[in-house]
Amino acid sequence: MTSALAPQSSPAKAPIRAIRVGILGFGTVGTGAYRMLEDNREAITRKIGFPVQVVRIGIRDPSKPRSLDAALFTTDLDSIINDPSIDVVLELIGGTEPAGALVERALRNGKHVVTANKELIAKHGSRLVHLAKSLGLDLHYEAAVGGGIPLVQPLKHQLAGNDLLKMVGILNGTTNYILTQMREEGADFEAALAEAQAKGYAEADPTNDVDGFDTAYKIAILASIAFGKQVPMDGVHREGIRSVTAIDMRYADALGYAVKLLGIVQPVDEDKVLARVHPTLIPKSHPIASVRGVYNALWLHGDFVGDVMFSGRGAGSDPTASAVIGDLIDVGRNMAVGGSGSAIPYDTGLKTASIDNLETGFYLRLRVQDRPKVLGHIATIFGAHSVSLAAMEMKTLSQGKGEIVFLTHPCQEKNFRAALEDLGAERMVEEISSSFRVEQAE
Ligand SMILES: NC(=O)c1ccc[n+]([C@@H]2O[C@H](COP(=O)([O-])OP(=O)(O)OC[C@H]3O[C@@H](n4cnc5c(N)ncnc54)[C@H](OP(=O)(O)O)[C@@H]3O)[C@@H](O)[C@H]2O)c1
Repeated sequence: MTSALAPQSSPAKAPIRAIRVGILGFGTVGTGAYRMLEDNREAITRKIGFPVQVVRIGIRDPSKPRSLDAALFTTDLDSIINDPSIDVVLELIGGTEPAGALVERALRNGKHVVTANKELIAKHGSRLVHLAKSLGLDLHYEAAVGGGIPLVQPLKHQLAGNDLLKMVGILNGTTNYILTQMREEGADFEAALAEAQAKGYAEADPTNDVDGFDTAYKIAILASIAFGKQVPMDGVHREGIRSVTAIDMRYADALGYAVKLLGIVQPVDEDKVLARVHPTLIPKSHPIASVRGVYNALWLHGDFVGDVMFSGRGAGSDPTASAVIGDLIDVGRNMAVGGSGSAIPYDTGLKTASIDNLETGFYLRLRVQDRPKVLGHIATIFGAHSVSLAAMEMKTLSQGKGEIVFLTHPCQEKNFRAALEDLGAERMVEEISSSFRVEQAE
Protein backbone atom coordinates (compact mmCIF):
# COMPACT_ATOMS: atom_id res chain seq x y z
CA MET A 1 0.00 0.00 0.00
CA THR A 2 1.33 3.44 -0.82
CA SER A 3 1.17 6.30 1.66
CA ALA A 4 -0.88 9.38 0.70
CA LEU A 5 2.26 11.40 1.39
CA ALA A 6 4.51 9.36 -0.86
CA PRO A 7 5.82 11.30 -3.85
CA GLN A 8 3.78 10.67 -6.99
CA SER A 9 5.74 9.25 -9.83
CA SER A 10 5.63 11.48 -12.94
CA PRO A 11 6.22 10.37 -16.51
CA ALA A 12 9.94 10.25 -17.18
CA LYS A 13 11.15 13.19 -19.27
CA ALA A 14 13.93 12.78 -21.77
CA PRO A 15 17.10 14.25 -20.26
CA ILE A 16 17.97 17.69 -21.66
CA ARG A 17 21.23 17.64 -23.59
CA ALA A 18 21.04 21.11 -25.12
CA ILE A 19 18.64 24.04 -25.41
CA ARG A 20 17.67 24.13 -29.08
CA VAL A 21 16.97 27.63 -30.33
CA GLY A 22 15.39 29.05 -33.49
CA ILE A 23 16.03 32.73 -34.25
CA LEU A 24 13.48 34.76 -36.23
CA GLY A 25 15.28 37.82 -37.65
CA PHE A 26 19.01 38.31 -38.13
CA GLY A 27 19.41 42.09 -38.23
CA THR A 28 20.97 44.37 -35.59
CA VAL A 29 19.63 42.40 -32.62
CA GLY A 30 19.63 38.91 -34.15
CA THR A 31 23.30 39.10 -35.18
CA GLY A 32 24.23 40.50 -31.75
CA ALA A 33 22.39 37.70 -29.94
CA TYR A 34 24.08 35.05 -32.09
CA ARG A 35 27.52 36.62 -31.53
CA MET A 36 27.00 36.73 -27.77
CA LEU A 37 26.05 33.03 -27.74
CA GLU A 38 29.27 32.28 -29.65
CA ASP A 39 31.62 34.61 -27.74
CA ASN A 40 30.35 33.67 -24.27
CA ARG A 41 29.49 30.05 -25.06
CA GLU A 42 31.30 28.48 -22.08
CA ALA A 43 29.96 30.88 -19.47
CA ILE A 44 26.41 30.60 -20.82
CA THR A 45 26.59 26.78 -20.85
CA ARG A 46 27.87 26.81 -17.27
CA LYS A 47 25.09 29.13 -16.13
CA ILE A 48 22.28 27.10 -17.71
CA GLY A 49 23.82 23.68 -17.16
CA PHE A 50 23.39 22.80 -20.87
CA PRO A 51 24.76 24.21 -24.09
CA VAL A 52 22.62 26.44 -26.32
CA GLN A 53 22.43 25.29 -29.90
CA VAL A 54 21.10 27.62 -32.63
CA VAL A 55 19.33 25.26 -35.00
CA ARG A 56 17.86 27.59 -37.61
CA ILE A 57 17.65 31.31 -38.41
CA GLY A 58 14.68 32.86 -40.24
CA ILE A 59 15.20 35.86 -42.50
CA ARG A 60 13.31 37.64 -45.29
CA ASP A 61 15.92 38.31 -47.97
CA PRO A 62 17.99 35.27 -48.95
CA SER A 63 20.24 37.35 -51.23
CA LYS A 64 21.78 39.37 -48.35
CA PRO A 65 25.33 38.30 -47.54
CA ARG A 66 25.50 36.60 -44.10
CA SER A 67 28.60 35.74 -42.12
CA LEU A 68 27.41 32.19 -41.32
CA ASP A 69 26.84 28.90 -43.13
CA ALA A 70 23.96 29.40 -45.60
CA ALA A 71 22.41 26.10 -44.44
CA LEU A 72 21.46 27.77 -41.12
CA PHE A 73 19.14 30.26 -42.84
CA THR A 74 15.63 29.91 -44.14
CA THR A 75 12.94 32.23 -45.44
CA ASP A 76 10.34 29.66 -44.38
CA LEU A 77 9.73 30.90 -40.83
CA ASP A 78 6.95 28.35 -40.33
CA SER A 79 9.55 25.60 -40.61
CA ILE A 80 11.15 27.01 -37.43
CA ILE A 81 8.03 27.38 -35.35
CA ASN A 82 6.76 23.97 -36.48
CA ASP A 83 10.06 22.18 -35.79
CA PRO A 84 9.34 19.91 -32.80
CA SER A 85 13.03 19.77 -31.88
CA ILE A 86 13.20 23.53 -31.18
CA ASP A 87 12.66 24.50 -27.53
CA VAL A 88 12.96 28.29 -27.66
CA VAL A 89 12.21 30.90 -30.33
CA LEU A 90 13.91 34.31 -30.26
CA GLU A 91 11.59 36.73 -32.11
CA LEU A 92 13.87 39.52 -33.37
CA ILE A 93 11.93 40.72 -36.42
CA GLY A 94 9.91 43.63 -35.03
CA GLY A 95 6.47 45.10 -35.82
CA THR A 96 3.15 43.44 -35.07
CA GLU A 97 2.93 41.21 -38.16
CA PRO A 98 4.13 38.67 -39.07
CA ALA A 99 5.93 38.71 -35.70
CA GLY A 100 2.71 38.53 -33.64
CA ALA A 101 1.27 35.52 -35.45
CA LEU A 102 4.66 33.77 -35.34
CA VAL A 103 5.00 34.31 -31.57
CA GLU A 104 1.47 33.04 -30.96
CA ARG A 105 1.98 29.93 -33.08
CA ALA A 106 5.37 29.23 -31.55
CA LEU A 107 3.73 29.27 -28.09
CA ARG A 108 0.86 27.06 -29.25
CA ASN A 109 3.50 24.65 -30.57
CA GLY A 110 4.97 24.44 -27.06
CA LYS A 111 8.00 26.72 -27.51
CA HIS A 112 9.22 29.30 -25.03
CA VAL A 113 9.60 32.74 -26.60
CA VAL A 114 12.02 35.61 -26.02
CA THR A 115 11.26 38.81 -27.90
CA ALA A 116 12.71 42.33 -28.21
CA ASN A 117 9.53 43.62 -29.84
CA LYS A 118 8.20 46.70 -27.99
CA GLU A 119 5.32 47.37 -30.39
CA LEU A 120 4.04 43.80 -30.13
CA ILE A 121 4.25 43.70 -26.34
CA ALA A 122 2.79 47.20 -25.89
CA LYS A 123 -0.22 46.29 -28.06
CA HIS A 124 -0.71 42.57 -27.36
CA GLY A 125 1.42 41.78 -24.28
CA SER A 126 -1.47 40.89 -21.99
CA ARG A 127 -2.96 38.34 -24.41
CA LEU A 128 0.39 36.76 -25.32
CA VAL A 129 1.69 36.51 -21.77
CA HIS A 130 -1.62 34.96 -20.63
CA LEU A 131 -1.34 32.47 -23.48
CA ALA A 132 2.23 31.58 -22.46
CA LYS A 133 1.21 31.17 -18.82
CA SER A 134 -1.78 28.99 -19.70
CA LEU A 135 0.52 26.71 -21.70
CA GLY A 136 3.16 26.53 -18.95
CA LEU A 137 5.67 28.40 -21.08
CA ASP A 138 7.94 31.41 -20.75
CA LEU A 139 7.48 34.63 -22.70
CA HIS A 140 10.20 37.15 -21.85
CA TYR A 141 10.71 40.64 -23.30
CA GLU A 142 13.45 42.43 -21.31
CA ALA A 143 15.05 43.80 -24.51
CA ALA A 144 11.80 45.50 -25.57
CA VAL A 145 12.40 48.38 -23.12
CA GLY A 146 15.71 50.07 -22.46
CA GLY A 147 17.89 47.74 -24.58
CA GLY A 148 20.60 46.48 -22.24
CA ILE A 149 19.24 48.15 -19.07
CA PRO A 150 17.41 45.71 -16.80
CA LEU A 151 13.99 47.34 -16.30
CA VAL A 152 11.34 44.70 -16.93
CA GLN A 153 12.64 42.11 -14.46
CA PRO A 154 13.23 44.60 -11.59
CA LEU A 155 9.68 45.94 -12.03
CA LYS A 156 8.25 42.40 -12.12
CA HIS A 157 10.25 41.17 -9.14
CA GLN A 158 12.46 43.29 -6.91
CA LEU A 159 10.25 46.42 -6.97
CA ALA A 160 6.90 44.60 -7.14
CA GLY A 161 5.99 45.22 -3.49
CA ASN A 162 6.08 48.99 -3.87
CA ASP A 163 3.29 51.37 -4.74
CA LEU A 164 4.93 53.23 -7.61
CA LEU A 165 4.15 56.90 -7.31
CA LYS A 166 5.92 58.05 -10.47
CA MET A 167 8.09 56.77 -13.33
CA VAL A 168 10.07 59.12 -15.58
CA GLY A 169 12.00 57.65 -18.50
CA ILE A 170 14.37 58.69 -21.25
CA LEU A 171 13.58 55.63 -23.33
CA ASN A 172 14.71 56.56 -26.83
CA GLY A 173 18.40 57.03 -27.62
CA THR A 174 17.84 58.71 -31.00
CA THR A 175 15.87 61.61 -29.56
CA ASN A 176 18.16 61.91 -26.54
CA TYR A 177 21.13 62.13 -28.91
CA ILE A 178 19.40 64.82 -31.01
CA LEU A 179 18.41 66.87 -27.94
CA THR A 180 21.92 66.53 -26.48
CA GLN A 181 23.45 67.84 -29.73
CA MET A 182 20.98 70.71 -29.78
CA ARG A 183 21.88 71.64 -26.21
CA GLU A 184 25.65 71.16 -26.39
CA GLU A 185 26.37 72.26 -29.97
CA GLY A 186 23.56 74.79 -30.39
CA ALA A 187 22.35 72.78 -33.40
CA ASP A 188 18.81 73.10 -34.71
CA PHE A 189 16.52 70.07 -34.83
CA GLU A 190 16.94 69.38 -38.57
CA ALA A 191 20.77 69.58 -38.42
CA ALA A 192 20.94 67.39 -35.31
CA LEU A 193 18.59 64.84 -36.94
CA ALA A 194 20.73 64.75 -40.11
CA GLU A 195 23.84 64.15 -37.99
CA ALA A 196 22.10 61.37 -36.05
CA GLN A 197 21.12 59.76 -39.37
CA ALA A 198 24.69 60.05 -40.70
CA LYS A 199 26.01 58.32 -37.54
CA GLY A 200 23.42 55.53 -37.80
CA TYR A 201 21.57 56.61 -34.62
CA ALA A 202 18.44 57.62 -36.53
CA GLU A 203 16.63 55.81 -39.33
CA ALA A 204 15.95 57.33 -42.77
CA ASP A 205 12.30 57.60 -41.67
CA PRO A 206 12.71 58.88 -38.10
CA THR A 207 8.96 59.11 -37.32
CA ASN A 208 8.89 56.25 -34.84
CA ASP A 209 11.57 57.93 -32.72
CA VAL A 210 11.15 61.69 -33.13
CA ASP A 211 7.35 61.65 -32.94
CA GLY A 212 7.45 59.72 -29.68
CA PHE A 213 5.87 56.38 -30.75
CA ASP A 214 8.86 54.33 -29.56
CA THR A 215 8.90 56.03 -26.14
CA ALA A 216 5.11 55.60 -25.87
CA TYR A 217 5.35 51.81 -26.45
CA LYS A 218 8.07 51.52 -23.84
CA ILE A 219 6.46 53.60 -21.11
CA ALA A 220 3.20 51.72 -21.75
CA ILE A 221 4.98 48.37 -21.23
CA LEU A 222 6.64 49.56 -18.01
CA ALA A 223 3.35 50.96 -16.69
CA SER A 224 1.51 47.74 -17.59
CA ILE A 225 3.97 45.75 -15.48
CA ALA A 226 4.08 48.27 -12.64
CA PHE A 227 0.30 48.67 -12.37
CA GLY A 228 -0.60 45.08 -13.29
CA LYS A 229 -2.89 45.86 -16.25
CA GLN A 230 -2.15 46.70 -19.87
CA VAL A 231 -2.15 50.42 -20.66
CA PRO A 232 -4.16 50.98 -23.87
CA MET A 233 -1.90 52.69 -26.42
CA ASP A 234 -4.59 55.20 -27.36
CA GLY A 235 -4.61 56.33 -23.73
CA VAL A 236 -0.96 57.44 -23.83
CA HIS A 237 -0.68 61.18 -24.60
CA ARG A 238 2.12 61.55 -27.18
CA GLU A 239 4.06 64.52 -28.55
CA GLY A 240 7.45 64.34 -30.30
CA ILE A 241 10.47 66.67 -30.37
CA ARG A 242 10.04 68.40 -33.76
CA SER A 243 8.80 71.56 -31.99
CA VAL A 244 11.98 71.95 -29.87
CA THR A 245 14.34 74.68 -31.12
CA ALA A 246 17.89 75.68 -30.28
CA ILE A 247 16.48 78.97 -28.92
CA ASP A 248 14.31 77.10 -26.41
CA MET A 249 17.32 75.00 -25.43
CA ARG A 250 19.27 78.18 -24.63
CA TYR A 251 16.47 79.76 -22.59
CA ALA A 252 15.87 76.48 -20.72
CA ASP A 253 19.57 76.20 -19.96
CA ALA A 254 19.74 79.78 -18.63
CA LEU A 255 16.71 79.08 -16.41
CA GLY A 256 18.37 75.93 -14.97
CA TYR A 257 16.65 73.22 -17.04
CA ALA A 258 17.48 70.54 -19.61
CA VAL A 259 14.97 69.66 -22.35
CA LYS A 260 14.32 65.91 -22.64
CA LEU A 261 11.78 63.69 -24.36
CA LEU A 262 10.27 62.00 -21.32
CA GLY A 263 7.82 59.17 -20.87
CA ILE A 264 6.04 59.79 -17.59
CA VAL A 265 3.47 57.69 -15.72
CA GLN A 266 1.70 58.51 -12.50
CA PRO A 267 -1.20 56.73 -10.81
CA VAL A 268 -4.26 58.98 -10.64
CA ASP A 269 -6.73 56.68 -8.94
CA GLU A 270 -7.15 53.02 -8.16
CA ASP A 271 -6.99 51.39 -11.62
CA LYS A 272 -6.21 54.65 -13.48
CA VAL A 273 -2.94 56.25 -14.62
CA LEU A 274 -1.88 59.34 -16.50
CA ALA A 275 0.65 58.24 -19.14
CA ARG A 276 2.34 60.81 -21.36
CA VAL A 277 5.25 61.36 -23.71
CA HIS A 278 6.39 64.87 -24.56
CA PRO A 279 9.40 67.17 -24.60
CA THR A 280 9.83 68.42 -21.06
CA LEU A 281 11.93 70.95 -19.18
CA ILE A 282 13.47 69.11 -16.24
CA PRO A 283 15.60 70.81 -13.55
CA LYS A 284 19.33 70.18 -14.05
CA SER A 285 19.41 68.94 -10.44
CA HIS A 286 17.18 65.95 -11.35
CA PRO A 287 19.35 62.83 -11.90
CA ILE A 288 17.72 62.12 -15.27
CA ALA A 289 18.65 65.57 -16.64
CA SER A 290 22.31 64.56 -16.92
CA VAL A 291 21.66 61.47 -19.09
CA ARG A 292 23.37 62.41 -22.37
CA GLY A 293 23.62 61.19 -25.94
CA VAL A 294 22.23 57.77 -26.85
CA TYR A 295 21.98 56.72 -23.20
CA ASN A 296 18.59 55.85 -21.72
CA ALA A 297 17.40 55.99 -18.12
CA LEU A 298 14.41 55.23 -15.95
CA TRP A 299 13.89 57.11 -12.71
CA LEU A 300 11.12 56.00 -10.38
CA HIS A 301 9.78 56.62 -6.92
CA GLY A 302 8.30 53.75 -4.90
CA ASP A 303 6.64 54.18 -1.53
CA PHE A 304 9.14 51.90 0.25
CA VAL A 305 12.21 51.89 -1.99
CA GLY A 306 12.26 55.68 -2.47
CA ASP A 307 14.07 57.07 -5.52
CA VAL A 308 15.79 54.64 -7.91
CA MET A 309 17.45 55.29 -11.25
CA PHE A 310 18.62 52.81 -13.89
CA SER A 311 20.68 53.98 -16.85
CA GLY A 312 22.74 52.56 -19.68
CA ARG A 313 22.67 51.85 -23.40
CA GLY A 314 19.06 51.62 -24.51
CA ALA A 315 19.71 50.19 -27.98
CA GLY A 316 22.36 48.78 -30.28
CA SER A 317 23.40 45.28 -31.23
CA ASP A 318 25.45 44.34 -28.15
CA PRO A 319 23.42 45.91 -25.32
CA THR A 320 20.15 44.57 -26.73
CA ALA A 321 21.72 41.12 -27.23
CA SER A 322 22.71 41.23 -23.55
CA ALA A 323 19.02 41.49 -22.57
CA VAL A 324 17.87 38.84 -25.09
CA ILE A 325 20.48 36.34 -23.93
CA GLY A 326 19.75 37.12 -20.26
CA ASP A 327 16.13 36.14 -20.94
CA LEU A 328 17.26 33.02 -22.82
CA ILE A 329 19.42 31.97 -19.86
CA ASP A 330 16.38 32.45 -17.61
CA VAL A 331 14.33 30.17 -19.88
CA GLY A 332 17.17 27.64 -20.01
CA ARG A 333 17.55 27.55 -16.23
CA ASN A 334 13.81 27.06 -15.87
CA MET A 335 13.90 24.22 -18.41
CA ALA A 336 16.87 22.66 -16.63
CA VAL A 337 14.86 22.24 -13.41
CA GLY A 338 11.74 21.09 -15.28
CA GLY A 339 9.94 24.39 -14.51
CA SER A 340 6.62 25.08 -16.13
CA GLY A 341 7.21 28.64 -17.27
CA SER A 342 7.58 31.84 -15.30
CA ALA A 343 5.59 34.30 -17.43
CA ILE A 344 3.88 36.87 -15.20
CA PRO A 345 0.54 37.73 -16.81
CA TYR A 346 -1.29 41.03 -16.53
CA ASP A 347 -4.85 41.81 -17.56
CA THR A 348 -6.17 44.45 -19.92
CA GLY A 349 -8.31 47.40 -18.91
CA LEU A 350 -6.10 49.89 -17.07
CA LYS A 351 -7.91 53.23 -17.36
CA THR A 352 -6.03 56.32 -18.49
CA ALA A 353 -6.69 59.91 -17.47
CA SER A 354 -6.82 62.78 -19.96
CA ILE A 355 -3.84 65.15 -20.08
CA ASP A 356 -6.37 67.95 -19.30
CA ASN A 357 -6.25 66.76 -15.71
CA LEU A 358 -2.48 67.14 -15.44
CA GLU A 359 -1.15 69.68 -12.96
CA THR A 360 2.27 70.87 -14.04
CA GLY A 361 4.41 73.92 -14.66
CA PHE A 362 4.81 75.37 -18.17
CA TYR A 363 7.47 77.14 -20.21
CA LEU A 364 6.11 79.60 -22.76
CA ARG A 365 7.90 81.73 -25.38
CA LEU A 366 6.01 84.58 -27.04
CA ARG A 367 6.84 87.20 -29.67
CA VAL A 368 5.14 90.43 -28.71
CA GLN A 369 4.88 94.06 -29.69
CA ASP A 370 7.43 95.87 -27.55
CA ARG A 371 5.26 98.58 -26.03
CA PRO A 372 4.09 99.73 -22.61
CA LYS A 373 1.55 97.62 -20.68
CA VAL A 374 2.20 94.42 -22.68
CA LEU A 375 3.46 92.57 -19.64
CA GLY A 376 0.64 93.75 -17.40
CA HIS A 377 -1.89 92.70 -19.99
CA ILE A 378 -0.41 89.21 -20.38
CA ALA A 379 -0.24 88.77 -16.59
CA THR A 380 -3.93 89.69 -16.36
CA ILE A 381 -4.84 87.01 -18.92
CA PHE A 382 -2.85 84.40 -17.01
CA GLY A 383 -4.46 85.52 -13.74
CA ALA A 384 -7.95 85.18 -15.23
CA HIS A 385 -7.21 81.49 -15.80
CA SER A 386 -5.61 80.88 -12.38
CA VAL A 387 -2.13 80.54 -13.90
CA SER A 388 0.56 82.21 -11.79
CA LEU A 389 3.99 83.13 -13.10
CA ALA A 390 7.20 81.87 -11.49
CA ALA A 391 9.89 83.45 -13.72
CA MET A 392 10.20 85.65 -16.76
CA GLU A 393 12.85 86.82 -19.23
CA MET A 394 12.31 89.53 -21.81
CA LYS A 395 14.44 90.79 -24.63
CA THR A 396 14.08 93.27 -27.48
CA LEU A 397 14.42 91.60 -30.86
CA SER A 398 14.19 94.59 -33.20
CA GLN A 399 12.53 97.99 -33.25
CA GLY A 400 9.10 97.49 -31.66
CA LYS A 401 9.39 93.68 -31.31
CA GLY A 402 10.17 91.70 -28.21
CA GLU A 403 10.42 88.11 -27.01
CA ILE A 404 9.20 87.01 -23.58
CA VAL A 405 9.76 83.68 -21.90
CA PHE A 406 7.65 82.68 -18.90
CA LEU A 407 7.79 79.82 -16.45
CA THR A 408 4.54 79.20 -14.61
CA HIS A 409 3.92 77.64 -11.23
CA PRO A 410 2.15 74.27 -11.46
CA CYS A 411 -1.36 74.78 -12.81
CA GLN A 412 -4.10 72.77 -14.48
CA GLU A 413 -3.25 71.88 -18.08
CA LYS A 414 -6.71 72.93 -19.27
CA ASN A 415 -6.34 76.36 -17.59
CA PHE A 416 -2.98 76.93 -19.27
CA ARG A 417 -4.45 75.94 -22.68
CA ALA A 418 -7.36 78.36 -22.17
CA ALA A 419 -4.90 81.16 -21.29
CA LEU A 420 -2.91 80.37 -24.47
CA GLU A 421 -6.06 80.63 -26.54
CA ASP A 422 -6.82 84.08 -25.11
CA LEU A 423 -3.20 85.18 -25.62
CA GLY A 424 -3.36 84.04 -29.25
CA ALA A 425 -6.34 86.31 -29.81
CA GLU A 426 -4.45 89.42 -28.55
CA ARG A 427 -3.04 91.81 -31.20
CA MET A 428 0.01 92.60 -29.08
CA VAL A 429 0.96 88.88 -29.07
CA GLU A 430 2.41 88.32 -32.54
CA GLU A 431 3.31 84.64 -32.13
CA ILE A 432 3.07 81.88 -29.58
CA SER A 433 6.50 80.50 -30.46
CA SER A 434 6.61 77.46 -28.20
CA SER A 435 5.32 75.95 -24.99
CA PHE A 436 6.55 72.92 -23.05
CA ARG A 437 5.63 71.26 -19.79
CA VAL A 438 8.03 71.63 -16.86
CA GLU A 439 8.78 68.88 -14.32
CA GLN A 440 9.49 69.99 -10.77
CA ALA A 441 12.60 68.92 -8.86
CA GLU A 442 11.84 65.74 -6.90
N1 LIG B 1 18.10 47.77 -33.02
C1 LIG B 1 18.07 47.98 -31.71
O1 LIG B 1 18.99 48.58 -31.13
C2 LIG B 1 16.93 47.46 -30.89
C3 LIG B 1 16.91 47.69 -29.49
C4 LIG B 1 15.86 47.16 -28.72
C5 LIG B 1 14.85 46.43 -29.33
N2 LIG B 1 14.89 46.26 -30.70
C6 LIG B 1 13.81 45.47 -31.30
O2 LIG B 1 14.37 44.27 -31.82
C7 LIG B 1 13.63 43.86 -32.97
C8 LIG B 1 14.60 43.70 -34.16
O3 LIG B 1 15.19 44.96 -34.41
P1 LIG B 1 16.48 45.10 -35.37
O4 LIG B 1 16.98 46.48 -35.15
O5 LIG B 1 17.38 43.94 -35.17
O6 LIG B 1 15.79 45.02 -36.80
P2 LIG B 1 16.53 44.83 -38.22
O7 LIG B 1 17.96 45.14 -38.11
O8 LIG B 1 15.69 45.56 -39.21
O9 LIG B 1 16.39 43.25 -38.48
C9 LIG B 1 15.14 42.65 -38.71
C10 LIG B 1 15.37 41.21 -39.12
O10 LIG B 1 14.10 40.60 -39.30
C11 LIG B 1 14.01 40.04 -40.62
N3 LIG B 1 12.64 40.25 -41.12
C12 LIG B 1 11.96 41.41 -41.20
N4 LIG B 1 10.73 41.18 -41.69
C13 LIG B 1 10.65 39.86 -41.93
C14 LIG B 1 9.66 39.02 -42.47
N5 LIG B 1 8.48 39.50 -42.86
N6 LIG B 1 9.93 37.70 -42.59
C15 LIG B 1 11.14 37.22 -42.22
N7 LIG B 1 12.12 37.96 -41.70
C16 LIG B 1 11.88 39.26 -41.57
C17 LIG B 1 15.00 40.79 -41.46
O11 LIG B 1 15.38 39.95 -42.53
P3 LIG B 1 16.52 40.37 -43.60
O12 LIG B 1 17.82 40.28 -42.84
O13 LIG B 1 16.38 39.34 -44.63
O14 LIG B 1 16.17 41.75 -44.03
C18 LIG B 1 16.12 41.06 -40.45
O15 LIG B 1 16.99 39.94 -40.39
C19 LIG B 1 12.54 44.91 -33.16
O16 LIG B 1 11.37 44.50 -32.49
C20 LIG B 1 13.12 46.14 -32.47
O17 LIG B 1 12.13 47.03 -32.01
C21 LIG B 1 15.89 46.74 -31.48
